[in-house]
Amino acid sequence: MANLILALDLPDKTKALKLLDEISGDLSWVKVGMELFTRYGPPFLKELSERGLHVFLDLKFYDIPNTVAKAVRSAQKLNIDILTLHCQGGQRMLAGAVEARNGIGGETKTGSPLLFGVTVLTSFADGELPGITASCAEMVKTLASLAAKTGLDGVVCSVAELPVIKEAHPKLLCLCPGIRPSWAPAGDQRRIATPKEAVRKGADFLVIGRPILQAEDPKKALHMILEEIA
Ligand code: C5P
Repeated sequence: MANLILALDLPDKTKALKLLDEISGDLSWVKVGMELFTRYGPPFLKELSERGLHVFLDLKFYDIPNTVAKAVRSAQKLNIDILTLHCQGGQRMLAGAVEARNGIGGETKTGSPLLFGVTVLTSFADGELPGITASCAEMVKTLASLAAKTGLDGVVCSVAELPVIKEAHPKLLCLCPGIRPSWAPAGDQRRIATPKEAVRKGADFLVIGRPILQAEDPKKALHMILEEIA
């Protein structure tokens, strides 16, 4: 069964923890992105894992190979379950990140956190990729091959690209944002799909933020999504 990850895209941690209190017991994964991590850093991640939650740190690393490899080593000390980096960082950056995570060169291999490569952000539509004439689907296919080749555990993609990725790389886990139940507005997302469609096409993880965070009753919204997934 696909895992639902709540994107905690909120300005302050009191709000985030209050929300988690309200919906506790119904959720086992949360995603912390730039907004909360920049303000509260590692102690906030610790608070989440102490609540028994799996933590996905979505910082989408994209830099020269040496810098990213060292950042992955630092992230390994945070007791997180998933970490993201941009596939556009290229072969050396991705392979170096996997090598750093695996501890090649002396440290113990932990296999943690799982490394997911962001292919093309779900907020992009065809024709919007700066300086690139390929379609989003073509770019995603190329970047997913690179992720598989360099030993990443998974990719972040839209639901539309799932079948092609799963066919070419059955072992690659697929994590899909851009999830919108029929009753939720798309916002800035472009390549969207419903939770049901995501599960039907084989998503391993679904990331959902605003449809829950901005709902009048977040607990009810979460339950409606969980029912749709089940
Ligand atoms: O509110 P919404 O459901 O659109 O949130 C989606 C979350 O997934 C956001 O936190 C966003 O940063 C993240 N994300 C994304 N597209 C990607 C990778 C991550 O929307 N390709």
